[in-house]
This record gives sequence, structure tokens and C-alpha cells, in this order.
Amino acid sequence: MQVSERRIVVLGTGGTIAGRAAAASDNVGYRAGEVPVSDLLRGLPALEGFSIEAEQVAQVDSKDMDFALWCTLARRCAEHLAQPDVAGLVVTHGTDTMEETAFFLQSVLAPVKPVVLTGAMRPATSVLADGPQNLVDALTVAASPLAQGVCVLFAGQVHGPLDVQKVHSYRLDAFSSGDAGPIAHVEEGRLRLMRAWPQGGALRNAASLPPPEQWPRVEIVMNHAGAGGAIVRALVRDGVRGIVAAGTGNGTLHHALEAALVEAQQGGVAVRRASRCPQGRVLPAPGAVLPAADGLSPVKARIALMLELMA
Ligand code: SIN
Repeated sequence: MQVSERRIVVLGTGGTIAGRAAAASDNVGYRAGEVPVSDLLRGLPALEGFSIEAEQVAQVDSKDMDFALWCTLARRCAEHLAQPDVAGLVVTHGTDTMEETAFFLQSVLAPVKPVVLTGAMRPATSVLADGPQNLVDALTVAASPLAQGVCVLFAGQVHGPLDVQKVHSYRLDAFSSGDAGPIAHVEEGRLRLMRAWPQGGALRNAASLPPPEQWPRVEIVMNHAGAGGAIVRALVRDGVRGIVAAGTGNGTLHHALEAALVEAQQGGVAVRRASRCPQGRVLPAPGAVLPAADGLSPVKARIALMLELMA
């Protein structure tokens, strides 16, 4: 196959990168998910040896991301990745739940080719929009023969699906990989690799996901001063299948909340202990009754537990 035949498919899902405001000076009062993904690609520099295709999968503000859209996106990704002439995928996505979608896609696709999520902190109509540069960099990663797995490209950095978190509500470099650091930097169209690309980590196959309405219900409960067990007991009464406790520090829990979680676990609810700290991981303590969440943040531990409970 000739290099000129290779394709990169850009799947649009919405977000601020596709946001539209009434004025070019407005970076806050815009509506996310309005500009078609094909328009976002217009005017970007050509990528030698690759043709770029756009597909609009959805047009949502990612705060409204749901299981049905995750299923659709995973299946569209799987179909494109199976084509031999597709080098990689770019997914345009809102920043608010991007880390969750990245973790979900790695968990159900574990792709050998790159799947690069990107977005923007300023709408497409902004006088200084950050989306176009993020898209150009994301295409660079998707075209790289070195890249593999699901990653997030933002502000010149490539983040892995396990570590990436949105850490700032407004700044253009809103994402961090915490202690792990980025996988790579994109510098003027070149990748500077810092560590290994994501590999494996499949918890379930995208093709075998149950219909969204059958996904097991898993909720997150946060520890805080004065926390109690009432929310946990209400969730158990309501038929919850799993609970992730976003503990303080090393996953510590108020004794009243912990007692309710132990009670829930004894009653058959799956419980995992994560930390609300943005960095570090919960170190499992010997003899701990509530299992730690394997270094995952609360939102990712929730996804992992849902996929585990589907088995
Ligand atoms: C969204 O997550 O869809 C809106 C916010 C953003 O993309 O920055």
C-alpha cells in the first residue's frame, strides 16, 4: 500500500472546540457542540501522505456524555481502526469528561493504532482559539508510526488514559498527568517521547458491551468533614451495584461513612476506595476491608467497576 493512501479519521463529538459565541471576545458565554467537525478541519495545513476524513458522531457538551454515546463512539472507532488504510483516529471532545472517555475507550478497545482525543478551552469563534493548534498536534500524533493506544493531546502534551486529568477550569493547558508526566510533547510537528505509549488494559470488548440501559449502576460518594452513611444506605435501598468512595488522603473515610460502606459490601455491593486527591494513589493497607481502586481516580474507578460488573 502506498503511503499516500493512508487515512486519518476525525470523529466529532462536540465540546468547546466546536463551541460558538456571539462575539469573538467571548470565551465563556458560548454554546458547546455547535460547529461541525468538518468546519473545524477547514484551513488546517495538509498532512503529507495522509488524507483526513471527518465524521460527526455527536454534537454534545461533554458534561452530558452518556453510556449510549460511549457505545456508539467505541463502535465507530473499532470499525475505522479495523480498516488497513486507517493510520489512526482523532476524536474531538469536550474537556469536561475527556479523561473519562479516554479511559473508557482504552478499556474497551486497547487499540494498537493511535486514538487521539483533543478539544479546546476556547470556542471555535474565539479571537484566539486554541482548538486549531490542538487539532494540528492531534493529527501529528495520529499520523505517527510510533504512537499507539488512546491518549489525550492538549496544549502540546500527550497524556495517557490512566493518568490524565483536567486540572484547571479555564487555563489553556488544562490537563495534567500528575506524577507520571506526559507521554510525549509535540513540538512544531515533531514528537518528543518521554515514556511508553499505553498498551493493553482491556477490561471488556467494545463489541460485547450490553445495551446502555443494562449497565450496572455504580455511584461515587465523597468523604469530607462530617460525612455520614445516609447516602450510601439510600443508594443500597435504590439497588446500586457498586460504590466508589472518593476518600480523603490515602483513601481514608469518616468512620460513619466507612461503616455504611462495609455494611453495603457485606450486602453484595462492590465497593472501591479511591482518593479525592488529584495526585498520588491509594496505597493498599494490610487487612483493609474495602479494596483500593488500583491507582485510579474516582471517575475512572467508577468506569472500571462498571465494566467489571458487566462480566
Ligand atoms: C465540554 O466539555 O463539552 C464543554 C467544556 C469544554 O469543552 O471545555
